[in-house]
Amino acid sequence: MKLTGYEQDILDGKYGEGMAYALGIQVAIGNAFDADCFVPITRTHVALSAQDADLWFAEKLLSKGAKCKIPPTVNPSINLKYLNDHLFEIPEEGVNIVSATNEAYRKLGAQLTFNCTPYLQQNVPAYGEVIAFSESSATPYVNSVIGARTNREGSNSALCAAVTGMVPRYGLLLDENRKAEIEVDVQAKIESDFDYQILGWCYPEKYKGLEIPIFRGIKKRPTPEGFMNFGAQLNTSGCVSMYHIEGITPEAPTFEAAVGNKKIKEVITITEQDLADTRQRLCREPKKIDFAMFGCPHITINQVATIARVCEGRKFKVPVWLLVSSLTKELAVRMGYNAIIQRAGGHIVSDTCIDVPPCWQPYYHGVGVTDSPKCAYYNEIRDIEFIIRPIEEAVEAAIIGEVLK
Ligand code: F3S
Repeated sequence: MKLTGYEQDILDGKYGEGMAYALGIQVAIGNAFDADCFVPITRTHVALSAQDADLWFAEKLLSKGAKCKIPPTVNPSINLKYLNDHLFEIPEEGVNIVSATNEAYRKLGAQLTFNCTPYLQQNVPAYGEVIAFSESSATPYVNSVIGARTNREGSNSALCAAVTGMVPRYGLLLDENRKAEIEVDVQAKIESDFDYQILGWCYPEKYKGLEIPIFRGIKKRPTPEGFMNFGAQLNTSGCVSMYHIEGITPEAPTFEAAVGNKKIKEVITITEQDLADTRQRLCREPKKIDFAMFGCPHITINQVATIARVCEGRKFKVPVWLLVSSLTKELAVRMGYNAIIQRAGGHIVSDTCIDVPPCWQPYYHGVGVTDSPKCAYYNEIRDIEFIIRPIEEAVEAAIIGEVLK
């Protein structure tokens, strides 16, 4: 990579050991991807996970005196107080690692948002903005729906970018790498937000390559929740950091504009039958459930309102957890949804992820219902079986303690 005098000074330690360490890692990444130079960034989001490697790296940067130049928003972890009061006594080891991680990020200068949908609130980029975002639903959303530019950062590389305020220029930062090479002919009706969960899971099952797809045949603009679901599943079932939808996403006003000088390498057709097959395989057979979980990624106030509408004046038979940002929790309190859901026996909890051990330990080896394939997939390692249904059906299941169909 070609470095400026300023960048070389950073590497030589003129701006401190922490900056030098972070930039050294980024130079190695840049060289691995044939980047030519560094470019400045304006935003960062770090997929904090409060697990050993995450804490080790944050503390390492801290011990070298690093400080974030561009304060990143961060992913959720565990709301220790809420879960301790309402679920179980979090073991000391869990309390220690979460507290130490939060403290390390706070000292590094991160914004402790603890939310995995920063692109909807708190850290929303504009079209064309060059940024460094990690987190599976965030990368496709900012690239595809907004037209901002980020590579598929890991939490460590995004944290380095936050410290240095720049990223190596390669991949999705370059015009030519944002063009579509796979045409996806959607011959099925995609209408609800849940349809995007299924389509997002189905496409990588049919095509495993890393090229950017353009989806054709989608008539109506997805809601923010539909886009959020779509990106989360595309980047969990597969590795899709950016996609286009013809006539809908900003870099695909037409098919030709989205393809540019590239050539379409393959045409993938997705039929109603493909989606029905994915749905059947993925969503599992009806059975009794031990709990319900929504919020992977964190659900929006609209989704909280949907859940409140279905459960108003009724009682849940099993514990129900809604995971949200602290901003959404505050809104839910103000708008009365929190009271409705609490009266039904459910919980709205902020700052918490479905995937940070040990917070969901009481449900290990149990059966849950969720609307999110990502939630189901991540919890397989803890032997939690999730039945997947659209939100309204999942709420109905929680009211009777069983998924009926
Ligand atoms: Fe968010 Fe954690 Fe799921 S970060 S997307 S709740 S795995």
